[in-house]
Amino acid sequence: MTSSDQRVLVTGGAGFIGTHTVIQLLNEGFTVSIIDNLDNAVIEAVDRVRELVGPKLSQKLEFHLGDLRKKEDLEKLFSQEKYDAVIHFAGLKAVGESVAYPLRYFDNNLIGSINLYQTMAKYDCKKLVFSSSATVYGQPEKIPCVEDFEIKAMNPYGRTKLFLEEIACDIQKADSTWKIILLRYFNPVGAHESGELGEDPKGIPNNLMPYIQQVAVGRLPELNVYGHDYPTKDGTAVRDYIHVMDLADGHIAALKKIFETEYIGCTAYNLGTGQGTSVLEMVAAFEKASGKKIPIKYCPRRPGDATEVYASTEKAQKELGWKAKYGVAEMCRDQWTWASNNPWGYKPKP
Ligand code: WQD
Repeated sequence: MTSSDQRVLVTGGAGFIGTHTVIQLLNEGFTVSIIDNLDNAVIEAVDRVRELVGPKLSQKLEFHLGDLRKKEDLEKLFSQEKYDAVIHFAGLKAVGESVAYPLRYFDNNLIGSINLYQTMAKYDCKKLVFSSSATVYGQPEKIPCVEDFEIKAMNPYGRTKLFLEEIACDIQKADSTWKIILLRYFNPVGAHESGELGEDPKGIPNNLMPYIQQVAVGRLPELNVYGHDYPTKDGTAVRDYIHVMDLADGHIAALKKIFETEYIGCTAYNLGTGQGTSVLEMVAAFEKASGKKIPIKYCPRRPGDATEVYASTEKAQKELGWKAKYGVAEMCRDQWTWASNNPWGYKPKP
């Protein structure tokens, strides 16, 4: 079966990582259905995907407004189409919000996923790529993070990712016809090179790069740097930032692996670059890419933040044949193209 015959359901496909992955799926010849409740995304992003891939490939893209917490929405989808695989992005992902509203996260992320898996089993669709996160490494005792490290959670959001990894592997252990890959994202940043797609969080951004982006376009006055006393190269925390297009390609590589007859299992892979970058280094790189000065204010550490986190990339390279291509300069270049073209994120073009 070639990719042109395969139909992939992408949950949360209207979101930041979802839309970038859908573009690559269509370019690879897959037929794609998106289900998204648009709680944290806008249909404009899907329209831009259609513009970017052109009319021919757009015919292979369907959008369905739906919510994984409503089993009837899933039943409607699976009873009307035969899906060969699912890439499961849909879920809430703000660490701070999960601490304040844990039940919202357990309902959305856990119940929604269990509904999805039950419906997949009912319709004999047992190929799954799951959007996990480096947050399952908690505060790693050592770095780089290797996939066989003990996983632990530090907040309700991270707990949902940890639980969902374990749930997926329990399902596969009980029924080995399930083929599952868990992708642990490090810090997704950047944007499609066209400047037409990018991250557009609701409200004040929790994450570093969308915050820097909004300072650069004048929406926010300055960046609060959380912690300047870490035992790192410049006192600020270090992370493994990965270009969203590299992340998208990591999903294509995982999907192709799952379609290989000989693939059996429920396997976790890091999607990172293996390079650590500090907050101040990221600020400097964005200033260079944008030509804008990013005013900063040093603040106390953010509770729950780790000092330094970056990925071991060997397993994904060896078993998926995937390695990140882009560095921090390209991440900042593309994020600035998106931000400068869309200072207020997605809105209908004038
Ligand atoms: C990065 C660094 C902050 C904002 C989280 C989730 C993870 C994934 C990515 C979903 C830290 C510092 C940040 C700011 C700052 N999300 N920072 N000022 O915390 O590494 O990871 O987002 O999958 O699961 O845990 O990312 O971008 O929030 O922070 O100084 O305004 O930037 O303290 O050191 P994080 P982040």
